[in-house]
Order: sequence, then structure tokens, then C-alpha cells
Amino acid sequence: MSLDGRVALVTGAGRGIGKAVARVLAERGASVAVHYHTSREGAEAVASDIEAQGGRAIALQADVSQPDQVERMAEQCRSALGPADILVNNARQLARGKPFTELQWSDYQGQIDVMLRGTFNCCRAVLPSMMERRWGRIVNVLSTVLVDHRPRTSAYGTVKSALLYFSQNLAVEMGPCGITVNMVSPGLIQTEREILHSRSYQEEYIRDTPMGRLGVPEDVAEAVAYFEGEKIGFITGVNMAVSGGKTIF
Ligand SMILES: NC(=O)c1ccc[n+]([C@@H]2O[C@H](COP(=O)([O-])OP(=O)(O)OC[C@H]3O[C@@H](n4cnc5c(N)ncnc54)[C@H](OP(=O)(O)O)[C@@H]3O)[C@@H](O)[C@H]2O)c1
Repeated sequence: MSLDGRVALVTGAGRGIGKAVARVLAERGASVAVHYHTSREGAEAVASDIEAQGGRAIALQADVSQPDQVERMAEQCRSALGPADILVNNARQLARGKPFTELQWSDYQGQIDVMLRGTFNCCRAVLPSMMERRWGRIVNVLSTVLVDHRPRTSAYGTVKSALLYFSQNLAVEMGPCGITVNMVSPGLIQTEREILHSRSYQEEYIRDTPMGRLGVPEDVAEAVAYFEGEKIGFITGVNMAVSGGKTIF
């Protein structure tokens, strides 16, 4: 499925899942704005790898919770590569889970600011031009935590749940404009950040997963790329689990 001539903006692409998404979209022919917040080296390395393989890419910095910074990033994307046809909202605030009794409202606020407000800001920045051109693909990265509840995930899971409604509602509103909005929900994915989860939790997760392994970032990237396809224009508001079957049960 070719994305030749399309421009993709991927948030949080200096590492982890976002990095794999940026690479896979570039392999399919998209020019990619590789967004980062603090991982400048990582994002620049992703962009230069893409260019070394004959693609087009640029690393762009922004705190997605800040609307002015996101507007600036969208403008930089427009002038370097063109307006974004594809937006992948992947950035998240990394925070260790806490029992409910230790949570403060600031724990929720941090997740709201980066994941919900960040997604809102990015959508607001790219949608007018997608609407004008009557074509767009948005993928928001959620989590299987929505259906596979675990203790200590209240702040993270609550905000991911809000993103489910946000995405479905946006899909309803943007359908008439030729824009699809879908979601990809990873299970436990092995990234540089796997340290978040204990070895015993990972082993238990693998035991309970039909495919018998943890996910890798490329598993998620393939699912994201699927929704970006030129011909995938009649699928919207869908949340696809990338969980090796763990969420079947
Ligand atoms: N890994 C998993 O097992 C798993 C499971 C389920 C769902 N997910 C979801 O998949 C997505 C990617 O996960 P991941 O594990 O690859 O993430 P990660 O390694 O924790 O990376 C998070 C990304 O978010 C960016 N970010 C953080 N704060 C930001 C801010 N204020 N403004 C802009 N960007 C900010 C970071 O940018 P910098 O590094 O540049 O600072 C980083 O690239 C997330 O939405 C996560 O919730 C992951």
C-alpha cells in the first residue's frame, strides 16, 4: 500500500513505538515529520535514516500540550514537507503507576495535558488543511488497558478512555470531509522503556497471550500504517487491538 506523495506527522517519534511508526510510513513512501519533545538525537537519527534511504523527513520539536508550539510545528512541517495528510497522535506522558490512594489530581492533569490536550492541539493544527483538501488520516494511539484493567493505571487509563470518545466523535464529524479517525491499542510492547514493567509481569503477560510473546514497536506500526492507506477510506472510528490476542478474553 503506497503512501507516495503523502505527508505524515508522527508525535513522540524519537523513540519507542513512534520511531517505528515514522520508519514504516516512510518505507511506504510518505514524507515524515518526526516529532520529538526531548529526544532530539533520537528524532534526528530517525529523520536522517529515512533520508539515507531516499525518503524525506524532518525532525520537529514541540511540547504537544502547548498550542502555540504545536501550531509552530505544523507550520514548520508545511514549509518543509507540505501540509500533513496523516497525523499519528502517539506521544504520552510517562509516569509510574500509583495505587489510587496515592494519586493526586496532578497525576491525572499531567496525562490530560500531554495525551488529551496534546491530541486536541495536534488535530486542531492539521485539520483545517485536511478539510480543505478533503482527505486526511488520523490515528490515535490508545491502549488495551481500556479492556484489560490493571491496578495502578487509573490516571493513564482514564485519559486513554477519554481519547476513545474523542476519536470516535471526531470520526463522526470528519467523515463528511473525507477524513478518517481510527485508533490503535497496543498491548504490552517491548521498547526502550520496558523497564516500567517487572520481569514477572512480563512473563505472566506472555503466558496469557495467545501469540506467546510481547509485542514489538513494528507490530503497532504496521497497524497504524494500515489505517493510513489510500484505499482504507471506509473504515473510521475503529479501535484495533495489537495485543497478540490477549484481549480476546
Ligand atoms: N509501550 C507499551 O507497552 C504501550 C502499551 C500500550 C499503549 N502504548 C501507547 O503507545 C504510545 C507510545 O508508547 P511508547 O512506549 O513508545 O512511549 P514512550 O517510549 O514512553 O515515549 C513517549 C513519547 O511521548 C513523547 N512525549 C512525552 N511528553 C511529551 C510532551 N509534553 N510533548 C510532546 N511529546 C511528549 C516523548 O518524547 P521525547 O522522548 O522526545 O521527550 C516520547 O517520544 C503511547 O501513546 C502509549 O500510551 C504503549
